Amino acid sequence: MPAHVDPPIRWGVLGSGAIAAAFVADLTMVPDADVVAVGSRTVEAAHAFAAKFAIPHAHGSYADLVKDPDVDVVYVATPHVAHHRCAMAAIAAGKAVLVEKPFTLNASEAAELVAAARSQGTFLMEAMWTRFLPHVEQIRALVTGGRIGDARSLTAELGGVAPADMQHRLWAAELGGGALLDIGVYLVSFASMLFGTPRTIHASGHLGRTGVDGQTAVVLDYSGGQQACLLASIETTNANRANINGTAGRIEVEGPFFKPAEFRVVDLNDAFETMPNVDTGSGLRHQAVEVGRCLRSALLESPTMPLSESLQVMTTLDEIRRQIGLTYPSERAEPA
Ligand SMILES: NC(=O)c1ccc[n+]([C@@H]2O[C@H](COP(=O)([O-])OP(=O)(O)OC[C@H]3O[C@@H](n4cnc5c(N)ncnc54)[C@H](OP(=O)(O)O)[C@@H]3O)[C@@H](O)[C@H]2O)c1
Repeated sequence: MPAHVDPPIRWGVLGSGAIAAAFVADLTMVPDADVVAVGSRTVEAAHAFAAKFAIPHAHGSYADLVKDPDVDVVYVATPHVAHHRCAMAAIAAGKAVLVEKPFTLNASEAAELVAAARSQGTFLMEAMWTRFLPHVEQIRALVTGGRIGDARSLTAELGGVAPADMQHRLWAAELGGGALLDIGVYLVSFASMLFGTPRTIHASGHLGRTGVDGQTAVVLDYSGGQQACLLASIETTNANRANINGTAGRIEVEGPFFKPAEFRVVDLNDAFETMPNVDTGSGLRHQAVEVGRCLRSALLESPTMPLSESLQVMTTLDEIRRQIGLTYPSERAEPA
């Protein structure tokens, strides 16, 4: 008798942009995941994407993709402003959903998504892919296991120079642009993974020509006295390192901290152990493996990236945006 093999998880990709392509490419390394469909706003883009990645179904609308009976899970890969609408449509169609970061534009949209998934009984997860990277899981286990004593602070930065084109989604207010929601979310989520919900939030940001933040700095304080100092920028090229500092040592993660060659565990005498990062590929597939594991275990959310935490991160981002004066056009009241 052949050993029982689970049928593959069948993915439908919603949106045919840059991250959709990177995700599909990395998914080829997952043996029990198949990309069976892509949906785009235009039939031409859907066909081009399907041809490039040998995807059997190409849909010229997102509505048709979410209705595709061959799709188990929809991966939402649209700009931030469209996450809520697209994920809601997929949930309403009864699909499991993996939605790109930031989860939504704001916490109220996030709460609606979570409520809809819970009422429909469908799986939902934020595509916080960095959390599932092997070296991040290793760091989390080291901190939880007390290797650096009591972890008291995090310093982390992410920065890269965005395209000069002010229409680009990173600069476009109407698409939810800016440093905080695009890359600051990784820092806030990383701090959340280590320390939980912040007690106080202090933020300072610089809004550029299009009204979105080019650079934002944040200090988060936690009830246990821990602190996180975070800097996100789309104006500068940064080293993108992260340090977690504890009472018995520290963890130094080389840049970029989501794909370092190695990280170091340093003791109080500055002696250190080097931990190589041997992961291959772009790293995007690990979150898909988690989705598959959850679906096969009939879980409606991931214990590693729970919905309550995605909601909490969006609430933190809302408060940071309030402090730096950043609102998006869709959030502003229409004139009477
Ligand atoms: N995990 C990561 O490392 C990572 C990296 C980059 C981005 N992201 C996230 O992924 C999302 C997409 O980013 P991206 O870099 O892939 O963007 P992108 O290259 O601009 O692609 C976005 C796609 O969304 C669709 N879309 C729907 N409404 C749109 C609109 N109003 N304007 C433009 N495109 C629209 C388009 O696909 P169709 O034309 O096919 O409909 C477009 O190709 C963002 O939320 C971002 O935060 C994640």
